[in-house]
Amino acid sequence: KAEREEMLARIKQLLLQEDAALVAHYYVHEDLQRLAEETGGCVSDSLDMARFGKEHSASTLVVAGVRFMGETAKILSPEKRVLMPTLEAECSLDLGCPADEFAAFCDAHPDYTVVVYANTSAAVKARADYVVTSSIAVDLIEHLHRRGEKVLWAPDRHLGAYIRKKTGADMLLWDASCIVHDEFRTQALLDLKQQHPEAGILVHPESPASVIDLADAVGSTSQLIKAAASLPHPKFIVATDSGIFYKMRQAAPEKRFIEAPTGGHSATCRSCAHCPWMAMNSLHNLLQTLESGANEIHVEESLRLGALKSTQRMLDFAR
Ligand code: 13P
Ligand code: SF4
Repeated sequence: KAEREEMLARIKQLLLQEDAALVAHYYVHEDLQRLAEETGGCVSDSLDMARFGKEHSASTLVVAGVRFMGETAKILSPEKRVLMPTLEAECSLDLGCPADEFAAFCDAHPDYTVVVYANTSAAVKARADYVVTSSIAVDLIEHLHRRGEKVLWAPDRHLGAYIRKKTGADMLLWDASCIVHDEFRTQALLDLKQQHPEAGILVHPESPASVIDLADAVGSTSQLIKAAASLPHPKFIVATDSGIFYKMRQAAPEKRFIEAPTGGHSATCRSCAHCPWMAMNSLHNLLQTLESGANEIHVEESLRLGALKSTQRMLDFAR
Protein backbone atom coordinates (compact mmCIF):
# COMPACT_ATOMS: atom_id res chain seq x y z
CA LYS A 1 0.00 0.00 0.00
CA ALA A 2 2.77 2.44 0.98
CA GLU A 3 4.64 1.52 -2.20
CA ARG A 4 1.57 2.31 -4.28
CA GLU A 5 1.08 5.67 -2.56
CA GLU A 6 4.73 6.48 -3.21
CA MET A 7 4.33 5.57 -6.86
CA LEU A 8 1.23 7.76 -7.22
CA ALA A 9 2.99 10.69 -5.55
CA ARG A 10 6.01 10.28 -7.81
CA ILE A 11 3.82 10.18 -10.95
CA LYS A 12 1.99 13.34 -9.87
CA GLN A 13 5.28 15.10 -9.22
CA LEU A 14 6.65 14.07 -12.64
CA LEU A 15 3.49 15.16 -14.45
CA LEU A 16 3.98 18.62 -12.96
CA GLN A 17 7.73 18.68 -13.53
CA GLU A 18 7.37 17.59 -17.18
CA ASP A 19 4.43 19.93 -17.87
CA ALA A 20 2.48 16.84 -18.86
CA ALA A 21 -1.26 16.09 -19.04
CA LEU A 22 -2.55 12.53 -18.66
CA VAL A 23 -5.22 11.60 -21.21
CA ALA A 24 -6.92 8.29 -20.44
CA HIS A 25 -9.55 6.21 -22.21
CA TYR A 26 -12.51 4.74 -20.29
CA TYR A 27 -11.18 1.22 -20.90
CA VAL A 28 -7.87 1.59 -19.03
CA HIS A 29 -7.49 0.53 -15.41
CA GLU A 30 -9.44 2.69 -12.98
CA ASP A 31 -6.21 3.67 -11.19
CA LEU A 32 -5.18 5.51 -14.36
CA GLN A 33 -8.62 7.02 -14.89
CA ARG A 34 -8.65 8.32 -11.30
CA LEU A 35 -5.17 9.72 -11.66
CA ALA A 36 -6.11 11.56 -14.86
CA GLU A 37 -9.10 13.08 -13.06
CA GLU A 38 -7.07 14.08 -10.02
CA THR A 39 -4.30 15.72 -12.01
CA GLY A 40 -6.40 17.86 -14.36
CA GLY A 41 -6.03 15.48 -17.31
CA CYS A 42 -9.00 13.84 -18.94
CA VAL A 43 -10.86 10.55 -19.04
CA SER A 44 -13.03 10.23 -22.10
CA ASP A 45 -13.96 8.54 -25.35
CA SER A 46 -11.64 8.66 -28.34
CA LEU A 47 -13.18 11.83 -29.81
CA ASP A 48 -12.81 13.83 -26.61
CA MET A 49 -9.31 12.48 -26.04
CA ALA A 50 -8.36 13.97 -29.43
CA ARG A 51 -10.06 17.28 -28.65
CA PHE A 52 -8.60 17.56 -25.18
CA GLY A 53 -5.06 16.80 -26.36
CA LYS A 54 -5.24 19.42 -29.08
CA GLU A 55 -6.70 22.14 -26.89
CA HIS A 56 -4.66 21.59 -23.72
CA SER A 57 -1.68 23.88 -23.11
CA ALA A 58 0.66 21.15 -21.74
CA SER A 59 3.85 20.59 -23.72
CA THR A 60 3.67 16.81 -23.13
CA LEU A 61 0.64 14.54 -23.48
CA VAL A 62 0.73 11.09 -21.91
CA VAL A 63 -1.90 8.99 -23.62
CA ALA A 64 -3.11 5.94 -21.69
CA GLY A 65 -4.93 3.88 -24.26
CA VAL A 66 -3.94 2.17 -27.50
CA ARG A 67 -1.54 3.28 -30.20
CA PHE A 68 -4.00 4.95 -32.57
CA MET A 69 -4.98 7.28 -29.72
CA GLY A 70 -1.36 8.37 -29.23
CA GLU A 71 -0.95 8.79 -32.98
CA THR A 72 -4.10 10.89 -33.23
CA ALA A 73 -2.76 13.17 -30.49
CA LYS A 74 0.52 13.59 -32.40
CA ILE A 75 -1.25 14.16 -35.74
CA LEU A 76 -3.22 17.02 -34.17
CA SER A 77 -0.41 18.43 -31.99
CA PRO A 78 2.99 17.97 -33.68
CA GLU A 79 4.55 20.57 -31.39
CA LYS A 80 3.77 18.47 -28.31
CA ARG A 81 5.73 15.50 -27.05
CA VAL A 82 3.34 12.53 -26.98
CA LEU A 83 4.24 9.62 -24.70
CA MET A 84 2.41 6.38 -23.98
CA PRO A 85 2.87 3.99 -21.02
CA THR A 86 3.51 1.29 -23.65
CA LEU A 87 3.96 1.27 -27.41
CA GLU A 88 2.80 -2.35 -27.59
CA ALA A 89 -0.89 -1.55 -27.16
CA GLU A 90 -2.47 -2.27 -30.52
CA CYS A 91 -6.06 -2.54 -31.70
CA SER A 92 -7.43 -5.42 -33.78
CA LEU A 93 -9.19 -2.94 -36.08
CA ASP A 94 -5.95 -1.08 -36.80
CA LEU A 95 -4.11 -4.41 -37.30
CA GLY A 96 -6.94 -5.65 -39.55
CA CYS A 97 -6.54 -2.76 -42.00
CA PRO A 98 -3.02 -2.67 -43.50
CA ALA A 99 -2.41 0.61 -45.33
CA ASP A 100 -1.32 -0.91 -48.66
CA GLU A 101 -4.33 -3.25 -48.94
CA PHE A 102 -6.61 -0.43 -47.92
CA ALA A 103 -5.14 1.92 -50.56
CA ALA A 104 -5.77 -0.74 -53.24
CA PHE A 105 -9.40 -1.06 -52.07
CA CYS A 106 -9.82 2.73 -52.31
CA ASP A 107 -8.16 2.82 -55.74
CA ALA A 108 -10.62 0.19 -56.97
CA HIS A 109 -13.57 2.42 -55.94
CA PRO A 110 -12.64 5.98 -56.90
CA ASP A 111 -16.24 7.22 -56.87
CA TYR A 112 -16.69 6.54 -53.14
CA THR A 113 -16.04 9.02 -50.31
CA VAL A 114 -13.57 7.32 -47.93
CA VAL A 115 -14.52 7.42 -44.25
CA VAL A 116 -12.38 5.61 -41.68
CA TYR A 117 -12.80 4.91 -38.02
CA ALA A 118 -10.29 6.59 -35.69
CA ASN A 119 -9.07 3.05 -34.78
CA THR A 120 -6.63 3.05 -37.73
CA SER A 121 -3.00 3.91 -38.46
CA ALA A 122 -1.85 7.35 -39.59
CA ALA A 123 -1.23 5.87 -43.06
CA VAL A 124 -4.85 4.71 -43.38
CA LYS A 125 -6.12 8.06 -42.11
CA ALA A 126 -3.92 9.77 -44.71
CA ARG A 127 -5.78 7.87 -47.47
CA ALA A 128 -9.21 8.89 -46.11
CA ASP A 129 -11.46 11.86 -46.76
CA TYR A 130 -12.87 11.75 -43.22
CA VAL A 131 -12.01 10.20 -39.87
CA VAL A 132 -14.83 9.52 -37.41
CA THR A 133 -15.25 8.00 -33.98
CA SER A 134 -18.32 6.06 -32.93
CA SER A 135 -19.86 9.15 -31.33
CA ILE A 136 -20.25 10.95 -34.69
CA ALA A 137 -20.09 8.14 -37.27
CA VAL A 138 -23.85 7.92 -37.88
CA ASP A 139 -24.27 11.72 -38.08
CA LEU A 140 -21.39 12.23 -40.50
CA ILE A 141 -22.46 9.45 -42.87
CA GLU A 142 -26.06 10.64 -42.70
CA HIS A 143 -24.75 14.04 -43.81
CA LEU A 144 -22.73 12.55 -46.70
CA HIS A 145 -25.67 10.36 -47.74
CA ARG A 146 -27.97 13.40 -47.89
CA ARG A 147 -25.44 15.05 -50.19
CA GLY A 148 -25.73 12.00 -52.46
CA GLU A 149 -22.27 10.58 -51.68
CA LYS A 150 -21.48 6.86 -51.56
CA VAL A 151 -19.23 5.78 -48.71
CA LEU A 152 -16.30 3.38 -48.52
CA TRP A 153 -16.06 2.47 -44.84
CA ALA A 154 -13.24 0.83 -42.86
CA PRO A 155 -12.33 -1.08 -40.83
CA ASP A 156 -15.10 -2.24 -38.43
CA ARG A 157 -17.69 -4.31 -40.26
CA HIS A 158 -20.21 -4.30 -37.39
CA LEU A 159 -20.09 -0.53 -36.94
CA GLY A 160 -20.29 -0.14 -40.73
CA ALA A 161 -23.36 -2.40 -40.96
CA TYR A 162 -24.99 -0.51 -38.08
CA ILE A 163 -24.38 2.88 -39.77
CA ARG A 164 -25.69 1.55 -43.08
CA LYS A 165 -28.86 0.31 -41.40
CA LYS A 166 -29.40 3.61 -39.54
CA THR A 167 -28.74 5.91 -42.49
CA GLY A 168 -29.66 3.86 -45.57
CA ALA A 169 -26.40 5.08 -47.16
CA ASP A 170 -24.78 3.21 -50.04
CA MET A 171 -21.72 1.79 -48.23
CA LEU A 172 -18.89 -0.57 -49.07
CA LEU A 173 -17.52 -2.22 -45.93
CA TRP A 174 -14.01 -3.36 -45.02
CA ASP A 175 -13.97 -6.66 -43.12
CA ALA A 176 -12.33 -6.31 -39.71
CA SER A 177 -13.68 -6.41 -36.17
CA CYS A 178 -12.88 -5.64 -32.57
CA ILE A 179 -11.79 -8.81 -30.75
CA VAL A 180 -13.55 -7.64 -27.59
CA HIS A 181 -16.96 -6.60 -28.92
CA ASP A 182 -17.11 -9.42 -31.47
CA GLU A 183 -17.31 -11.83 -28.53
CA PHE A 184 -20.67 -10.72 -27.15
CA ARG A 185 -23.22 -13.51 -27.50
CA THR A 186 -26.88 -12.96 -28.39
CA GLN A 187 -28.50 -16.05 -26.86
CA ALA A 188 -26.51 -15.73 -23.62
CA LEU A 189 -27.53 -12.07 -23.46
CA LEU A 190 -31.20 -13.01 -23.90
CA ASP A 191 -30.84 -15.59 -21.09
CA LEU A 192 -29.23 -13.00 -18.81
CA LYS A 193 -31.98 -10.50 -19.61
CA GLN A 194 -34.54 -13.11 -18.53
CA GLN A 195 -32.83 -13.31 -15.15
CA HIS A 196 -32.89 -9.47 -14.92
CA PRO A 197 -36.05 -8.37 -16.74
CA GLU A 198 -35.82 -4.84 -15.29
CA ALA A 199 -32.31 -4.29 -16.71
CA GLY A 200 -31.64 -2.02 -19.66
CA ILE A 201 -29.14 -3.16 -22.29
CA LEU A 202 -26.29 -0.82 -23.33
CA VAL A 203 -24.30 -1.76 -26.44
CA HIS A 204 -21.25 -0.32 -28.19
CA PRO A 205 -21.79 -0.45 -31.98
CA GLU A 206 -18.62 -2.50 -32.55
CA SER A 207 -20.79 -5.44 -31.40
CA PRO A 208 -22.54 -7.88 -33.78
CA ALA A 209 -25.89 -6.73 -35.26
CA SER A 210 -27.89 -9.35 -33.34
CA VAL A 211 -26.54 -7.91 -30.05
CA ILE A 212 -27.16 -4.31 -31.15
CA ASP A 213 -30.76 -5.28 -31.98
CA LEU A 214 -31.38 -6.04 -28.28
CA ALA A 215 -30.10 -2.66 -27.03
CA ASP A 216 -31.98 0.07 -25.18
CA ALA A 217 -29.10 2.42 -26.10
CA VAL A 218 -26.34 2.09 -28.70
CA GLY A 219 -23.41 4.49 -28.73
CA SER A 220 -19.83 5.44 -28.08
CA THR A 221 -18.40 4.95 -24.61
CA SER A 222 -19.34 8.48 -23.51
CA GLN A 223 -22.85 8.10 -24.96
CA LEU A 224 -23.32 4.82 -23.05
CA ILE A 225 -22.23 6.45 -19.78
CA LYS A 226 -24.77 9.24 -20.36
CA ALA A 227 -27.47 6.66 -21.16
CA ALA A 228 -26.70 4.81 -17.91
CA ALA A 229 -27.43 8.00 -15.97
CA SER A 230 -30.45 9.17 -17.97
CA LEU A 231 -32.42 5.99 -18.74
CA PRO A 232 -34.86 4.96 -16.00
CA HIS A 233 -33.66 1.34 -15.55
CA PRO A 234 -32.33 0.41 -12.07
CA LYS A 235 -29.68 -1.86 -13.61
CA PHE A 236 -27.95 -2.39 -16.92
CA ILE A 237 -26.36 -5.20 -18.85
CA VAL A 238 -23.38 -3.60 -20.54
CA ALA A 239 -21.95 -4.85 -23.85
CA THR A 240 -18.65 -3.03 -23.99
CA ASP A 241 -15.24 -3.23 -22.31
CA SER A 242 -15.56 -3.61 -18.54
CA GLY A 243 -13.15 -0.71 -17.95
CA ILE A 244 -16.18 1.53 -18.51
CA PHE A 245 -17.76 0.43 -15.20
CA TYR A 246 -15.59 2.83 -13.21
CA LYS A 247 -17.18 5.87 -14.89
CA MET A 248 -20.64 4.34 -15.16
CA ARG A 249 -20.72 3.80 -11.40
CA GLN A 250 -19.63 7.39 -10.89
CA ALA A 251 -22.34 8.64 -13.27
CA ALA A 252 -25.11 6.52 -11.72
CA PRO A 253 -23.99 5.32 -8.25
CA GLU A 254 -27.42 4.01 -7.31
CA LYS A 255 -27.60 1.65 -10.28
CA ARG A 256 -26.18 -1.84 -10.82
CA PHE A 257 -24.06 -2.81 -13.82
CA ILE A 258 -23.65 -6.33 -15.15
CA GLU A 259 -21.21 -7.49 -17.83
CA ALA A 260 -22.83 -8.82 -20.98
CA PRO A 261 -21.85 -12.44 -21.64
CA THR A 262 -19.07 -13.21 -24.09
CA GLY A 263 -17.95 -16.36 -25.91
CA GLY A 264 -15.33 -16.88 -23.22
CA HIS A 265 -17.81 -16.27 -20.42
CA SER A 266 -18.02 -18.58 -17.43
CA ALA A 267 -18.90 -18.27 -13.75
CA THR A 268 -15.21 -17.85 -12.95
CA CYS A 269 -14.46 -15.28 -15.65
CA ARG A 270 -14.52 -11.98 -13.82
CA SER A 271 -13.65 -9.72 -16.70
CA CYS A 272 -14.22 -11.45 -19.99
CA ALA A 273 -14.85 -8.30 -21.96
CA HIS A 274 -11.61 -6.47 -21.48
CA CYS A 275 -9.29 -5.30 -24.23
CA PRO A 276 -5.91 -6.99 -23.74
CA TRP A 277 -4.14 -3.96 -25.24
CA MET A 278 -5.90 -1.41 -23.04
CA ALA A 279 -4.93 -3.66 -20.11
CA MET A 280 -1.21 -3.17 -20.91
CA ASN A 281 -1.38 0.35 -19.44
CA SER A 282 -0.48 0.44 -15.76
CA LEU A 283 0.78 2.78 -13.04
CA HIS A 284 4.14 0.98 -13.32
CA ASN A 285 4.74 1.62 -17.00
CA LEU A 286 3.30 5.12 -16.72
CA LEU A 287 5.91 5.91 -14.06
CA GLN A 288 8.71 4.32 -16.13
CA THR A 289 7.68 6.37 -19.15
CA LEU A 290 7.64 9.63 -17.21
CA GLU A 291 11.00 8.87 -15.64
CA SER A 292 12.74 7.85 -18.86
CA GLY A 293 10.90 9.83 -21.55
CA ALA A 294 10.67 6.54 -23.48
CA ASN A 295 7.70 5.41 -25.57
CA GLU A 296 7.42 8.61 -27.54
CA ILE A 297 5.05 8.62 -30.52
CA HIS A 298 6.46 9.80 -33.84
CA VAL A 299 4.48 10.12 -37.06
CA GLU A 300 6.39 10.68 -40.29
CA GLU A 301 5.63 14.25 -41.44
CA SER A 302 4.13 13.58 -44.90
CA LEU A 303 1.83 10.92 -43.38
CA ARG A 304 0.96 13.27 -40.55
CA LEU A 305 -0.04 16.03 -42.93
CA GLY A 306 -2.18 13.59 -44.94
CA ALA A 307 -3.84 12.26 -41.79
CA LEU A 308 -4.32 15.76 -40.38
CA LYS A 309 -6.74 16.73 -43.18
CA SER A 310 -9.15 13.86 -42.53
CA THR A 311 -8.75 14.06 -38.74
CA GLN A 312 -9.30 17.83 -38.67
CA ARG A 313 -12.51 17.30 -40.69
CA MET A 314 -13.70 15.03 -37.88
CA LEU A 315 -13.12 17.78 -35.30
CA ASP A 316 -14.75 20.40 -37.52
CA PHE A 317 -17.81 18.21 -38.06
CA ALA A 318 -18.06 17.38 -34.34
CA ARG A 319 -18.13 21.03 -33.32
P1 13P B 1 -15.07 5.15 -28.19
O1 13P B 1 -14.75 6.14 -29.25
O2 13P B 1 -16.52 4.88 -28.07
O3 13P B 1 -14.44 5.54 -26.90
O4 13P B 1 -14.46 3.73 -28.63
C1 13P B 1 -13.11 3.47 -28.75
C2 13P B 1 -12.83 2.04 -28.79
O5 13P B 1 -11.74 1.59 -29.02
C3 13P B 1 -13.96 1.14 -28.57
O6 13P B 1 -13.55 -0.17 -28.58
FE1 SF4 C 1 -9.50 -1.88 -30.49
FE2 SF4 C 1 -11.49 -3.32 -29.54
FE3 SF4 C 1 -9.45 -2.77 -27.96
FE4 SF4 C 1 -11.19 -0.82 -28.70
S1 SF4 C 1 -11.62 -2.60 -27.42
S2 SF4 C 1 -8.97 -0.68 -28.67
S3 SF4 C 1 -11.68 -1.48 -30.77
S4 SF4 C 1 -9.39 -4.04 -29.82
